[in-house]
Amino acid sequence: MVLDMLMPPLRAALLAPLLLMAGTAVALAQDDGEAMTDEDGVPLYRVEEGRVDRGTYNGYRRYHNSCHVCHGADGLGSSFAPALAETMDSIDYYAFLEVVASGRQNPGATGNKVMPAFGTDPNVMDHIDDIYRYLKARSEGELGRGRPVRLEG
Ligand code: HEC
Repeated sequence: MVLDMLMPPLRAALLAPLLLMAGTAVALAQDDGEAMTDEDGVPLYRVEEGRVDRGTYNGYRRYHNSCHVCHGADGLGSSFAPALAETMDSIDYYAFLEVVASGRQNPGATGNKVMPAFGTDPNVMDHIDDIYRYLKARSEGELGRGRPVRLEG
């Protein structure tokens, strides 16, 4: 796989089984030569007729690996955690990074609802910008439910 050749051998060896399991290439957000962040470094996404850039597609996959169990399929929420497809509207990039890296505990009347800290989890933090892209695209109404199709390139 081309991606393997781009990575140091050890990392490739560790990741290869994961890539095979996923059955699809992991997207590198920057490799299609787009301006994928704004001037402040805040990640941007691209959606054209339901098709998404590689980063956003990767974010979809990473979200459904690590966040879906609590935040629901397609970011629609569950009894455990809020619908990020809605609340991401009112969160900026920096607040997002903070809550994902450090977690949050909100011991309310309905019991302990805990947002775990992912700051040391490379499965999340190595892809956090892509997860942000995906959730922003969802919350801004640009991207519908389900697995998106990638733009060519
Ligand atoms: C074990 C369950 C669980 C998992 C897994 C989880 N979360 Fe959460 N998350 C929560 C809960 C519960 C809250 C609400 C905490 C609160 O009430 O303040 C939350 C809150 C958040 C918020 C703040 C939302 C808001 O409206 O303020 C963000 C952003 C978030 N999570 C992102 C993520 C991302 C990204 C992932 C995957 C990398 C993830 N979470 C995985 C349980 C989870």
